[in-house]
Amino acid sequence: MATEFELNGRAVTVDIESDTPLLWALRDDLDLTGTKYGCGIGMCGACTVLVNGRAIRSCITPVETVSGASITTIEGLHPDGNHPLQKAWVESQTPQCGYCQSGQIMQAAAMLKDFPDPSDEQINHAMGGNLCRCMAYVRIRKAIKLAAEEMKGASGNKAQETGAAANE
Ligand code: FES
Ligand code: FES
Repeated sequence: MATEFELNGRAVTVDIESDTPLLWALRDDLDLTGTKYGCGIGMCGACTVLVNGRAIRSCITPVETVSGASITTIEGLHPDGNHPLQKAWVESQTPQCGYCQSGQIMQAAAMLKDFPDPSDEQINHAMGGNLCRCMAYVRIRKAIKLAAEEMKGASGNKAQETGAAANE
């Protein structure tokens, strides 16, 4: 059955069984392999993507349920891979094996919309379902804070520019 949705800003159609997990539609049918398979039962977060801006586990999301939705994967977070989170991940040398990291970044991207200046507690709560067998949790938290700083600076600059333009 054909399911249509928006993927990283472009319209796509997949013609697969409607109960196929979105993860496999992304990886096998749409060739976006940045989203990883970890547990397959919604318990590790490796497969996290954004659906209409919210973080979901693509391994337990039937593709039919995202019909008409807007999906963002790690490949679409920023056109050049330079989202503040991606830059902070590099700067902090966050990954070890790297396997969990695209899921971590997508979960963090969703969290920063709700908590632009997150405390350790808020990060731990929001990221608690994203497991890292390499135990990179301290670096993940550090990178999230770095990204939040950059994003706050960017929105502050934008507000200043808007204010300046309004006063001209
Ligand atoms: S692979 Fe989806 S939560 Fe583990
Ligand atoms: S960096 Fe290896 S599982 Fe997280």
